[in-house]
Amino acid sequence: MSSISIYLLTFAVLLQTIFGASSYLNICSSSDNYPSMTLMTINDPYESSLRKLLGNLYYQTPPQGFGLGSVGQDPYKAYGIALCRGDVEATGCRTCVNEASSEIHKRCPYNKGAIIWYDNCLVKYVNTDFLGKIDDQNKFYMYNLRNVSEPTTFNQKTRELLSLLAKDASETPKLYAAGELELEKSKKLYGLAQCTRDLSGSDCFKCHDGIIGELPRCCDGREGGRVVGGSCNIRYEIYPFVTA
Ligand SMILES: *[C@@H]1O[C@H](CO)[C@@H](O)[C@H](O)[C@H]1NC(C)=O
Repeated sequence: MSSISIYLLTFAVLLQTIFGASSYLNICSSSDNYPSMTLMTINDPYESSLRKLLGNLYYQTPPQGFGLGSVGQDPYKAYGIALCRGDVEATGCRTCVNEASSEIHKRCPYNKGAIIWYDNCLVKYVNTDFLGKIDDQNKFYMYNLRNVSEPTTFNQKTRELLSLLAKDASETPKLYAAGELELEKSKKLYGLAQCTRDLSGSDCFKCHDGIIGELPRCCDGREGGRVVGGSCNIRYEIYPFVTA
């Protein structure tokens, strides 16, 4: 998989404004493309593995909010996962995974590996077995353009909340936690932390610990921010954004 490029970081500001309910961000694996465009046919074996895999994920994911699997025989075997945000119901999850699957295939038609993130779900596939391993290559940041007035205290609170949520997430079967923290009178900080469920609890914690460490680079003093990876993600805002 390609790692997140400067290009994506530069456009974090832009993404922040366009990343609405039906917008997304995707990364196509730059290496290891399957056949060159001219050779690509509807009967390509990897293509057919992918189609089956995405079909399986579409059925498997919505009830529990997570699906994983592999389809095909080497060298045409495809591995994939789909994850919905912890508060998203089955119907919303189904809609998101459906849209993500068709979009990722359109955006990365010749890639053996790809990942796509929406607000409500992510879908990822690769031609090597990545299941159960922390993905620290595919990642992006998003942040609110507005700054808080007291960044030092605010950054501390953000870190405190997300560290608590990272711990909670690693101790629940869903590997998901959302919560809030009192900032000052009548002001609150809201956060969430979630891992893909192919990780163990301890790897989930490790993954979150890593991206929480990136907050100063990502979101220093910003009113809201997200570090979104292939295996875990965190988000905080000064308004509620999770369905209770
Ligand atoms: C927020 O802070 C950053 C970094 O100091 C600065 O570049 C940016 O212009 C500020 N944004 C606003 C809206 O003031």
